Amino acid sequence: MKRKIIIAVTGASGSVYAKVLFDQIAKIEDQIDAVGVVMSDNAKDVWKYELGNEAYNNYNFNFYSKNDFNAPFASGSAKYDTMIIVPCSMGTLGRIAHGISNDLISRAADVILKERRKLIAVVRDTPFSLIHINNMKTVTEAGGIICPANPSFYSLPKSIEEVAGTVVSRVLDLAGFEVDSYRWNEA
Ligand SMILES: Cc1cc2nc3c(=O)[nH]c(=O)nc-3n(C[C@H](O)[C@H](O)[C@H](O)COP(=O)(O)O)c2cc1C
Repeated sequence: MKRKIIIAVTGASGSVYAKVLFDQIAKIEDQIDAVGVVMSDNAKDVWKYELGNEAYNNYNFNFYSKNDFNAPFASGSAKYDTMIIVPCSMGTLGRIAHGISNDLISRAADVILKERRKLIAVVRDTPFSLIHINNMKTVTEAGGIICPANPSFYSLPKSIEEVAGTVVSRVLDLAGFEVDSYRWNEA
């Protein structure tokens, strides 16, 4: 069965995680029926600042504006099965934890959780306050998966994109896609 997924990009640091995820998703399009993308305003600003370009415009996904509540995944009836928020700011995490569905990202996450589907939030900040930790706990209790933007180094990554790829590989595994990736101690 093919998949319908939502990718949300917010204004946390780490636009490279979104770029690497976009690249990986483009490679496995045969496993996917629909990719809906929504970026916050800050996500676009941080991408421009950190990556020095607006290359998010180059991907052949369906992009929706942050206040477009006519997007199919603003309703559970459209049956999108997985939402990945990468990177996920503490602001967006807080809105999701408290059910404040005042933009398409927090509404789509609200829908995914109420429909008992898969929400993966690649949260990014450091250090965390108790408010952040409690919000992660709340989202976890509601069925979401907190997958922090904590890279690993045991694959000996050689570039920033390879470092980011260590997190993106875990996200794609969690989302249930078949991907080639480094696996510890596998030949
Ligand atoms: C360069 C830059 C880096 C930022 N990094 C983070 C971060 O790592 N984590 C975070 O929670 N917010 C970070 N922020 C702040 C968010 O962009 C801000 O809180 C914003 O309101 C989040 O809204 P959004 O989730 O709708 O994008 C950063 C902002 C800028 C300009």
